[in-house]
Amino acid sequence: MQRLLVTGGCGYLGRELVARAPSRGWEVRATWFERPPQGEGEWVRLDVRAGGAVRAAVEGVDAVVHTAYRQGEGEWRVNVDGSEAVARASEGRRLVHLSTDLVFRGDRGRYREDDEPDPVNSYGRSKAEAERRVAALRPNATLVRTSLIYGGRKPGPQERLARDNKRFFVDELRSPVHVADLADAILELLLLDVRGPLHVAGADDVSRFDFAVLLGADPARLEAAHTTPDRARDVTLDSSRARDLLRTPLRGVHEVLATA
Ligand SMILES: NC(=O)c1ccc[n+]([C@@H]2O[C@H](COP(=O)([O-])OP(=O)(O)OC[C@H]3O[C@@H](n4cnc5c(N)ncnc54)[C@H](OP(=O)(O)O)[C@@H]3O)[C@@H](O)[C@H]2O)c1
Repeated sequence: MQRLLVTGGCGYLGRELVARAPSRGWEVRATWFERPPQGEGEWVRLDVRAGGAVRAAVEGVDAVVHTAYRQGEGEWRVNVDGSEAVARASEGRRLVHLSTDLVFRGDRGRYREDDEPDPVNSYGRSKAEAERRVAALRPNATLVRTSLIYGGRKPGPQERLARDNKRFFVDELRSPVHVADLADAILELLLLDVRGPLHVAGADDVSRFDFAVLLGADPARLEAAHTTPDRARDVTLDSSRARDLLRTPLRGVHEVLATA
């Protein structure tokens, strides 16, 4: 049996990967950092900033999916140094590294893999630098850029925002992806030789306002907000390359929520 390491196994995407990988024939080891795991399986506590501990966590596995990250204070060290440590330790192993639509400026949207990253915020800058370092160390790694993730087993950040928030941007566009589609796509990618950036996002581009309504927010209680220059306006992703490569469907949010 092939062995897989999932960093950030208690995270929104990590949890879904940990749940789905065994049915694809993977024996899973997963890492946690601050939130102790509740499920069964093999868990190791890991701070990705600690190179020696990262090497120990990777010992004996055939493949690594690196989802662990941080947004806000300390993000550079976790996202850049942590991703570099994971890439270094992954020598000789298949590596899928998670990245984001926010590596792009957001002034035009429908970004393709060969468009140049040009982030507007510090989180995007840290993820763009992480991509550069991972690609330099492991040219065979896949850098999966994705968009807002929703649809998990428990309500996630997007569902909570739709429930609790009042103001949503009508002019910020994203390509939300269902967490199960994303996890399945990543598990499929582990078996393929796909190098460098790959856009793996949902088929529909929607505003954050419309997305909140699709997730159940009552439009009558919402306020329409407009984006500001320090934010990425339209970072929708063109995932046609992933669609050509993968059997996993990357459904649009309208299709997902119509069948929910
Ligand atoms: N969520 C989105 O909408 C979205 C959109 C675009 C791209 N992405 C990308 O997708 C990936 C997964 O996102 P997610 O939403 O699943 O993340 P998440 O739910 O916030 O989980 C992130 C995980 O990282 C772990 N972590 C934080 N600091 C760490 C450290 N120093 N060492 C080791 N682990 C650490 C946390 O562990 P503990 O919980 O144990 O503390 C947490 O489980 C990220 O790389 C992100 O950039 C996400």
